[in-house]
Amino acid sequence: MKKVGFIGWRGMVGSVLMERMLQENDFAAIKSYFFSTSLGGEKAPALNGAYPEVLNSKDISQLKEMDILISCQGGDYTKEIFPILRNSGWNGYWIDAASSLRMEEDALIILDPVNRDKIEQALNNGVKNFIGGNCTVSLMLIGLHGLFKEGLVDWVSSMTYQAASGAGAKNMMELLSQMKFVGDYLAKNPSLGALEIEKKISQSMGESDFPKENFGHPLALNLLPWIDTELASGQSKEEWKAQVEANKILQSRKIIPIDGTCVRVGALRCHSQALTIKLNRSVDLSTIENLIKEANPWVKLVANNKSASLQELTPAAVSGKLSIPVGRLRKMTIGDDYLNAFTCGDQLLWGAAEPLRCMLRQLI
Ligand code: HSE
Repeated sequence: MKKVGFIGWRGMVGSVLMERMLQENDFAAIKSYFFSTSLGGEKAPALNGAYPEVLNSKDISQLKEMDILISCQGGDYTKEIFPILRNSGWNGYWIDAASSLRMEEDALIILDPVNRDKIEQALNNGVKNFIGGNCTVSLMLIGLHGLFKEGLVDWVSSMTYQAASGAGAKNMMELLSQMKFVGDYLAKNPSLGALEIEKKISQSMGESDFPKENFGHPLALNLLPWIDTELASGQSKEEWKAQVEANKILQSRKIIPIDGTCVRVGALRCHSQALTIKLNRSVDLSTIENLIKEANPWVKLVANNKSASLQELTPAAVSGKLSIPVGRLRKMTIGDDYLNAFTCGDQLLWGAAEPLRCMLRQLI
């Protein structure tokens, strides 16, 4: 049995990975080892075949014993430990949720439903570093897989509506605290009308005790049109990732331009995207629908009507689910080769943990 070391298994992505692996009985197929920076020496989770003690995640000699390492610990850990580990001669498989190694030449971005063939090829070619993609990129590619596969896409403009979870667990809690803060205002002033309470709540968001340590700004009753760092191009880093990562995953011979504005919204867990897709030829809508729905088992076509859209095509509807609904599909009035679409997805499942789990399954 392969020895598999888990690093960062208690964080949000790590916990979702553990939950999925338990659901799919994956632990039965491996000998698992749990690593931690702070819990070394303590009892490991009592799982089928797990080594009973937590090991130190900075102990290179213990890490080196593993056939496969899966890190959900974050980019700083990868930057610090991965080079030391490789320089020490470790030749095992490194599976990582963090972005640090994604664009390295010797790393493949993994997204099983879309590039399983490329993963197999990479394994045959001796690639050892397999990195999960950015959440919105992965969710968009699973949703639009059929169009990319058919070579129909000229370019895509993606406008994202990203949930608090993408910024981390503390940010999710902060969004809820912000909601409570403004909710308490309403409770204290039950007789005020809408305009009066809006004025008071807007003022309250500027108060020093308004909880915004993590986001730096109110997200509740608001939105934040910038995610990640600033780049010289005027894009945010999150926006930059769309084109570079998607084309790396697709291994496009000719770069498909993908760009848009990434926005943090007050959804809790799941990301959404409004897409304008420029097709390189005119294709009728029913063909497009068939291509999309038949591309992989996870994509789910939602009829372009009000009730189905409001019921099935929302962040709340996909929370905890592996399905990726794609809807609002219609030709735009701009021209017959312009397609409108909207998609949602659980950013902790296919957006983060699930590609890592699939990669592990493939290796074992
Ligand atoms: N960068 C994403 C976000 C997280 O901020 O929502 C998923 O990779």
